[in-house]
Amino acid sequence: MHLEGFPQPVTLRDGTEVVIRPLCAIDGAELLEFYRAFTEEERQFLRDDVSSPEWLERFLKKVDFEEVVSLVAELDGAIVGETTLYRTRYGWTRHVGEIRVAVARDLRRKGLGIALSRAVVKLATNLGIEKMVVQVVENQVGARHTFEKLGFTQEATLRAHVKDIRGLKRDLLVLSNDVSHIWHAMEAMVADYSPMHE
Ligand SMILES: CC(C)(COP(=O)(O)OP(=O)(O)OC[C@H]1O[C@@H](n2cnc3c(N)ncnc32)[C@H](O)[C@@H]1OP(=O)(O)O)[C@@H](O)C(=O)NCCC(=O)NCCS
Repeated sequence: MHLEGFPQPVTLRDGTEVVIRPLCAIDGAELLEFYRAFTEEERQFLRDDVSSPEWLERFLKKVDFEEVVSLVAELDGAIVGETTLYRTRYGWTRHVGEIRVAVARDLRRKGLGIALSRAVVKLATNLGIEKMVVQVVENQVGARHTFEKLGFTQEATLRAHVKDIRGLKRDLLVLSNDVSHIWHAMEAMVADYSPMHE
């Protein structure tokens, strides 16, 4: 899949060089290996059972770069990070995109989470999405910090909405970022543009 601006080289805080690029159909085995390395506790908070071949098969079919977009971070042929953008092309939330991001444990706290999230937010904006949301559990501090650094703020709390591995209920926070002003500014620029005055 070719997407404008990718592959995108990224240098992490410790000098490690990774490449962010769109997921390909042949990435299946590496993606499964990447998600299987997560702890069971972390996998509980993800929306799907990302360690199962059935999930992988469904996911690869869904990634059409229309409604589901997936970017991966690659290091020495292995997948070390993944971010997904979900949107619908029809209905009253067609201007909204939902984002998910995950980074391999041994590469965390080096800036890869931010780099992947920034790449997917930029891509979503280019696709015309006006509002982005991300769901994080109250104790997912890293995820919360990552998205707050990109301008997301807490919009809603769903009380006792998720259960962790021990059956403990936790709040689910909905963070959002309204980027419609970027589109309004661009529309105003186009409206103001008059080639006669060039
Ligand atoms: C959330 C996640 C993707 C962050 O990845 P990462 O590569 O560690 O993120 P970064 O290194 O870019 O850090 C981004 C910011 O968050 C902060 N941060 C990251 N993890 C943190 C933690 N555990 N505690 C406190 N702050 C944290 C960093 O300090 C950084 O801010 P800084 O630049 O001011 O230092 C990663 O922790 C992960 O994969 N978690 C499991 C999956 C998950 O929870 N996904 C979120 C659901 S959408």
